[in-house]
Amino acid sequence: MKQADMHSSADDSATVESQATTDSSQHDAALRVLRPPRAAPAEAARVTRAEIDLARVRHNLHELTACLKSSGAKLWAVIKADGYGHGARNIATALQQARVDGICVALLEEGIELREAGITVPILVMGGYYGRHRDGLDALIEHRLTPVVYEASQIDSLARAVRFLAEHGSRSTEPYPVHLKIDTGMGRLGVRPEGLGEVLATLQKARELHVDGLMTHLACADADSLSVTQTQLERFGHAEETVRAAGFSPTWRHAANTAAMLRLPESQLDLVRPGLGLFGVHPCPAHQAPQIRQPNLKPAMRVLSEIVAVRNIAVGEAVGYGHTWRASRPSRIATLPMGYADGMSRTMSGGGEVLVCGRRAPIVGTVSMDLTMVDVTDIEGVSLRDEVVILGEQTGRLGTDAISADELANHAGSISWECLTSISRRVPRFYRNP
Ligand SMILES: Cc1ncc(COP(=O)(O)O)c(C=O)c1O
Repeated sequence: MKQADMHSSADDSATVESQATTDSSQHDAALRVLRPPRAAPAEAARVTRAEIDLARVRHNLHELTACLKSSGAKLWAVIKADGYGHGARNIATALQQARVDGICVALLEEGIELREAGITVPILVMGGYYGRHRDGLDALIEHRLTPVVYEASQIDSLARAVRFLAEHGSRSTEPYPVHLKIDTGMGRLGVRPEGLGEVLATLQKARELHVDGLMTHLACADADSLSVTQTQLERFGHAEETVRAAGFSPTWRHAANTAAMLRLPESQLDLVRPGLGLFGVHPCPAHQAPQIRQPNLKPAMRVLSEIVAVRNIAVGEAVGYGHTWRASRPSRIATLPMGYADGMSRTMSGGGEVLVCGRRAPIVGTVSMDLTMVDVTDIEGVSLRDEVVILGEQTGRLGTDAISADELANHAGSISWECLTSISRRVPRFYRNP
């Protein structure tokens, strides 16, 4: 695929600079929130790039939605961490056009970014942190972002902020929607069942708020055994009874990530929160998942580069920092301009592979910050400017092959979520939007 076939959003090159007004000290008042620009396709001189196929993201949304037929659950797409590295604004826009029901992000900043990009569907901010000062809560409310709450002081400050804005005419007096998070076994965020009484008492007093959702997060939905997940869902059911007994009637009960929604239909509840699956990556191998349906997910991202140097190396000569690789035969070594600063994990040194001409070339020596060397001795006729695929499919003159996020993760000793989100901001994203 040529770069000319792709388009990019001009938004990608925008530098957003906003003055954070705070109500405490002079020092805080001088704080600025700077969002540095992502490497923008229009400015990209480099050959290393990521290509994102928005038609595939829409296809994955339809495939996942088709798995919800029996429960009738809605789908709120998780596109935190810049849309798992795919570019949140463009992904959210594509999903909204495809009629996604809602969106989940981790950070307040991520939610604001999406509203500024014209996203109008509900946006749930799951991280539970809305800044140290009132202006964070004001920004949340002003941008109609739905916060996740789980703690009395958080609920009090939010209720105060809503009341203040209503009294000063900046918003209606209608109760503001929140989703209450229960920690059913992740041990991370959410009110633990033993603290639920206190939090519910606080919510009962907070007339400015409306408990529109009740959620939990599953810790082991992609594990071989689903017993932990089943226990978490049972605890969630008990918590729901307590919440209803306290007089609340949340519209949305939700728990399921991609793995849970595919493997355990009863986890789908009123809405599901898939992230990884939307980007075309299965959260667990097919043999491990007795799934209700095996959706035909298509990876949305390819990461490519080009060979910028090729050299012949004699037996005994070494390559790269620390001379960790030495030629045991006359070798041909190619260099590509992608290193650990771009998201090529250093743990791929001497272990990973890339595709050249549709064939696999092993990484040799140590991955450096900007460059990686691969052994192309067994691939005939490799020359300067040949395309290199780090992630995704390649059809070349010698064949067709693909490197999945899962494979990359295995080489890097990581997980596919991390591999996708690690493609750094200096790798420009090009979008295919047929
Ligand atoms: C709270 C929450 N819900 C849903 C998801 C989506 O998970 P997945 O990408 O496995 O579908 C995440 C991702 O980490 C999450 O933190």
